[in-house]
Amino acid sequence: MGYQIAIDGPAGAGKSTIAKLIAKQKNFIYVDTGAMYRAMALFLLRSNINANDDEAVSLICPKAEITIRYENNEQIVLLNGENVNAYLRTEEVGLIASKSSANPKVREHLLGLQIKLAEENDVVMDGRDIGTCVLPNANVKVFLTASSRIRAKRRYLELTANNANEESPLDLDDIEQDIIKRDNQDMSREHAPLKQAADAVLVDTSDLTIEEVSALIIEICGQKR
Ligand code: DC
Repeated sequence: MGYQIAIDGPAGAGKSTIAKLIAKQKNFIYVDTGAMYRAMALFLLRSNINANDDEAVSLICPKAEITIRYENNEQIVLLNGENVNAYLRTEEVGLIASKSSANPKVREHLLGLQIKLAEENDVVMDGRDIGTCVLPNANVKVFLTASSRIRAKRRYLELTANNANEESPLDLDDIEQDIIKRDNQDMSREHAPLKQAADAVLVDTSDLTIEEVSALIIEICGQKR
């Protein structure tokens, strides 16, 4: 079992940016579990399965083989052998992922892969249930958060930079509403809801720079070996 850093929190709190930076500094691998749930969502979208149809989702999810590969320290998600990274970061896929990730069969399907990665490597893993369910004995647990407005602004900038929504103009209020909706879905689900682990350190990133947040987490790592 390697060293485990678990970072949880709502959409747009800065988890992936911070986790990538820390993984680079510590020479650990970065495991983006949200991307795995997004790959499953993409599979459902392509298969014309409604993410709210629990029975259909449970039946079809074993057909999605989701694996991870690393290229130049970047996580590549393979869906039935295809590199799907380019299709994962849209709002549509994020909202479907938020719905389908409430399905216990979907979670069970991805949990084994997440645990195996943490058994075989030193990891920085981010998601919603890492400190509470996936890595309950992680060396360091952090719960990152920020106000919904700040998170919406960050998402807006990310989407504009990626040109993911070229066709329709982006609206900050709409993005904030999507974020609030996603928070509610992620926090209120029955299985592995988004919540701060009892032993996680809470970090509000609203007024902190990326460098300040990562320095804080590196300091916490120094205290917990
Ligand atoms: O972090 P993200 O936005 O890429 O995650 C997409 C969705 O996947 C999120 O709304 C909830 C779900 N998810 C989850 O249920 N558990 C995780 N460990 C990671 C993500």
